[in-house]
Amino acid sequence: MSPLPLAGLRVLLGVSGGIAAYKAAELVRRLRDAGAEVRVVLTANAARFVTALTFQALSGHPVRTSLWDESAEAAMGHIELARWADEILIAPASADLLARLAHGHADDLLGTLVLASAAPVSVAPAMNRQMWANAATRANLDLLAARGVRVLGPAAGSQACGETGEGRLLEVDDLVARLVAARGPRMLDGVRVLVSAGPTYEDIDPVRFIGNRSSGRMGFAIAEAAVAAGATVTLVAGPVALATPLGVTRVDVRSACEMRDAVLGAAPAHDVFISAAAVGDYRPAQASASKLKKTGQSRTLELVQNPDILAELGQSAARPLLVGFAAETDELERHAREKLELKGLDLIAANQVGERLGFECADNALLLLWPGGREPLAQADKRVLATALVARVAERLHARGGQSR
Ligand code: CTP
Repeated sequence: MSPLPLAGLRVLLGVSGGIAAYKAAELVRRLRDAGAEVRVVLTANAARFVTALTFQALSGHPVRTSLWDESAEAAMGHIELARWADEILIAPASADLLARLAHGHADDLLGTLVLASAAPVSVAPAMNRQMWANAATRANLDLLAARGVRVLGPAAGSQACGETGEGRLLEVDDLVARLVAARGPRMLDGVRVLVSAGPTYEDIDPVRFIGNRSSGRMGFAIAEAAVAAGATVTLVAGPVALATPLGVTRVDVRSACEMRDAVLGAAPAHDVFISAAAVGDYRPAQASASKLKKTGQSRTLELVQNPDILAELGQSAARPLLVGFAAETDELERHAREKLELKGLDLIAANQVGERLGFECADNALLLLWPGGREPLAQADKRVLATALVARVAERLHARGGQSR
C-alpha cells in the first residue's frame, strides 16, 4: 500500500471570514484522510460563519479563535502552535486577511501565527470577483507571492453573491491535491522559461493597425502553469487585456519587430522558449506619421514580411528548448509537422482554428508533435491544456538532459 500523501504532516488550517468557510470543515476531513494531523484556528469573523465546535469534532483537537484565550495559552500557546506547524494553509483566505498578511499584521491569532512560524504558507483565496480583480488585492497577492507564499486558486464559477467569475474557493479535493503537489519536487524547479503571448499590432498610421484575433489567454495560462511547476518565468506579451499571472515578469510589446527584439534579447538567459504569440507575418512597408485621409479612390497597402522569431532562434547556436504553436484551418498535422521541421523545433502544439476553439475563447484542443512522436490533448479549458503542455515540455527538457545547452 502506498503511503498517504500527507502522512504525518502537521497542518495548521487557518479559516478566515467568508461564506466559503463552511467548505473548510470538509477540508479538515480530506486533509486527515490524506494522512495529515490538523489543528484549526478561526479568525473572529470566521467564527461568525462557522463554529469552533464543528472544527474541534472534525480535527479531534481544541480550536483556537483568539490570542487572549488564557486556558489555551497555558496549554499550547501561540508560539508553540507556530512551531508545531509543518505547513500553514489558510482556506478560505478573504481579501481582508490577504491584506493583513501582506502587511504583517499581528493583531489577532492567525496573523501572529503566520509571522511567528517558519512553516511554508499557502493561501486559498475566496471572495467576490470584483474584490479579487481589485488592484489592492492584486498588489497584496504580488507581495505575498514574492515572499514565497503559495497562492492556490481561486476557481471561476458562480459565486454566493449571485455573480459569476473568478474568486470561488478551489474545490476541497483540488486544494488537497495542490498542497500535495506543492510539497513535492516540481517538474520545472530551477528552470527559466520564456513565453510569448498575444497578437502583434502593425501600425498603418497613428490610429490604424493590422492585428489578429489572438486573446493571449493560451500564453498567459502557460506562463501561470510554468510558475506552478517551479519555473522562473518571463512573459513577452503583445497588446492584450489580461492581468499578469502571479510571480511572472512581464515585458509588453506591440509590433512583431518589438517582440523579436524582446525575445532574442531574453532568450540566452532562458532554458525554454514557448512561442504562443500570434506574430503578424506582415507589416506595412511604411507607417504613415499622420492619419491617412480618404481620397475617394481605392488604396493599395504595401506589406513587407516580418522576421520569423522562432525560426531565427532555431538557427542560433545556443538556443533554448524551442516550443512552437501552429494555428491551422486545414491539414493540421501536415502543416504543423512542416513547421516543426522547418523551424528546427523540439515540440509543436498544433491547434485547429475554428468555431468556439482556438482564438478569442476559453477552450482549445491541441495536437502535440515532436520528432518521432505525437499526442492529442482533447478539448479543454486553456488552463488545463497549459498544465498538460508544461508537463510535456518538462519531459522533453529532461529527455534532452538538463536545463541549458
Ligand atoms: N512565429 C514567429 N514569428 C513569426 C511568425 C510565427 O515566431 N513571424 C511563431 C509563432 O509564435 C508560432 C509558430 O511560429 O509559435 C507558428 O506560427 P504560425 O502563425 O502558425 O505559422 P507561420 O510560421 O506564420 O506560417 P503561416 O502563417 O504561413 O501558417
